[in-house]
Amino acid sequence: MKFDKIGVIDFGGQYAHLIATKVRRLNVYSEIRQPDDPIEKFTGYKGIIISGSPSLSSFGEDSEYNKRIYELDIPILGFCFGHQEIAKHYGGRVINGGREWGETKFRILKKGHPLFEGLSEVESVFMSHFDSVDAVGESFEEYGISYLAEGKEIHRFAAIGSDKYKRYGFQFHPEVDDTVNGDKMIANFVFNICRCTPNWTMDEFIKQQMEKIRYQVKDKSVFLLVSGGVDSTVAAVLLKEILGAERLRLLHIDNGLMRKGESRKVLERLKRLGFEQNLFFKDASNIFIDALKEVYEPEKKRRIIGDTFIDVFTKEAERLDISSYLLGQGTIYPDTIETGGTKRADTIKTHHNRVPVIQKMIEEGRIVEPLSELYKVEVREIGLRLGIDEDLINRHPFPGPGLGVRVLCNDGRDDLSDMAGIEKNVTEFLSPFNTDAIVLPVKSVGVKADLRSYERPVLFNSGYSEKIFEIASDLLAKIKGINRCVVNISPYKIRTAKPLKAYITKKRLDLLREIDDIVNSILHHRGVYNKIWQCPVVIVPVSLNERGEEMVVIRPVLSERAMTAKAAFLPGEVIKDISEAILKFKEISGVAIDITSKPPGTIEWE
Ligand code: XMP
Repeated sequence: MKFDKIGVIDFGGQYAHLIATKVRRLNVYSEIRQPDDPIEKFTGYKGIIISGSPSLSSFGEDSEYNKRIYELDIPILGFCFGHQEIAKHYGGRVINGGREWGETKFRILKKGHPLFEGLSEVESVFMSHFDSVDAVGESFEEYGISYLAEGKEIHRFAAIGSDKYKRYGFQFHPEVDDTVNGDKMIANFVFNICRCTPNWTMDEFIKQQMEKIRYQVKDKSVFLLVSGGVDSTVAAVLLKEILGAERLRLLHIDNGLMRKGESRKVLERLKRLGFEQNLFFKDASNIFIDALKEVYEPEKKRRIIGDTFIDVFTKEAERLDISSYLLGQGTIYPDTIETGGTKRADTIKTHHNRVPVIQKMIEEGRIVEPLSELYKVEVREIGLRLGIDEDLINRHPFPGPGLGVRVLCNDGRDDLSDMAGIEKNVTEFLSPFNTDAIVLPVKSVGVKADLRSYERPVLFNSGYSEKIFEIASDLLAKIKGINRCVVNISPYKIRTAKPLKAYITKKRLDLLREIDDIVNSILHHRGVYNKIWQCPVVIVPVSLNERGEEMVVIRPVLSERAMTAKAAFLPGEVIKDISEAILKFKEISGVAIDITSKPPGTIEWE
């Protein structure tokens, strides 16, 4: 069966992905195109959507993209930046002004137009722009206006369109949930204007994918590395459905940085899923821990974990003689396209692609990627259909370098001379609020204006409440030298923090594994786990109030794709359970909860 398709031009990573995801939920296939893609790449679409952009502001200048799309005889709809581009291209004018932000009212002037079917005359929409359309060209009409509230200043050209050219634009963002009827607006374009048929169902897609892979693999066999996460497990089971277990060879490597009992669980699960034979396992934990001896710097740790992975994998690939195989990969759609933002390439995946034997397979095109057209939510849906446990499907993402980025290290050479100055500024800033804070004598990674920062965390002594999130965000914006805020949730005040020398050891990893396991069971037990994106647990080598030699930070976050994140607020009883359970470990000198959003923090501490 042939599917109708909508192309989305990506001017801003997350926004474009959101649009494509929303179109797919309408059972119409949608894929991301880059602005400079050659025109040939745009054939076969029933319509195009030009995304908005979080940072781009056209300022009336010419923007770089392939304008030949306007020669295509298919409908085009633009959001925000895309809306302004369409206006400009057809003789309208864009000015640097008319800024709107947040929830805004949109009044439809072109009532009865198929683009607005099923909508009220006034809709609630989300705006985020500096530039605005100020005039439209010939054959274009003003389809709507916007304003904050009845009687307030009116912004013109909130929606424009030309049925002659089949070009339309919305100044607001229908793809974000804050636009209440955004899904309906996208559906109107897809069905009423582009005339797509909603026949892209998961079952149809799986059927088609199976045929494609059967054709590609022919009578060969496939080798697949399985971390045990959702993507590689779903890829393994899907390939087994297509080829049969006997034509698959799976390898799982334990790098010693996994969670408690993880490798054993991965192997048991794969056996339950029908991979009894051809399932290989390498326990390389000692090799990794040895390689990380006396390594302190976050990027160096990552590099060593990646390089060690290459060594271990090269030896295993030779031992298993995979030279005649095809290589299966659990790559998902967002991994395959370039996006802006702060997305980091998956260390394990990039490193495993650098292994010579794999490099050769890639060069020869011997790669099978059954999930490469799917988003995570879709991979999860397939996983459930294939009978994979819901527990695995709903698991939080876990980084390739594993607990390696959650065991903070310190070589004892950190110059602490900046601390007093920062602490003074922080104390001054916090004086109107009922909380006191100290600056921690360690550094963690963060991200500011798309650049990596490596700065100090601030620890608030008390007052874990939703209000403190705002104070923290203000503090981080105003005071230099800090990139994270945490709140003490130990039942005592923390007045001093002494840095201790520490690197990755099995003992520290085992301690973290136990605590991480307890935190996750509490989150499950209290019904919080499925409501949050992730909750890294980090151990930090500082002694607080002369107690113990490690501090624990828990980092619950809400996110959609991890490019940005908000700290999640956990209820009091959950905080109490977690703090009590962790403080039973004699090594632990205090517990705190991270309340930093991303940016300026990252989700992981390293
Ligand atoms: P950050 O810390 O950059 O994390 O906000 C964003 C998301 O990516 C995960 N993460 C990684 N995943 N290899 C991975 O496969 C890595 O090196 C890596 N670093 C971070 C992190 O857990 C979060 O979901």
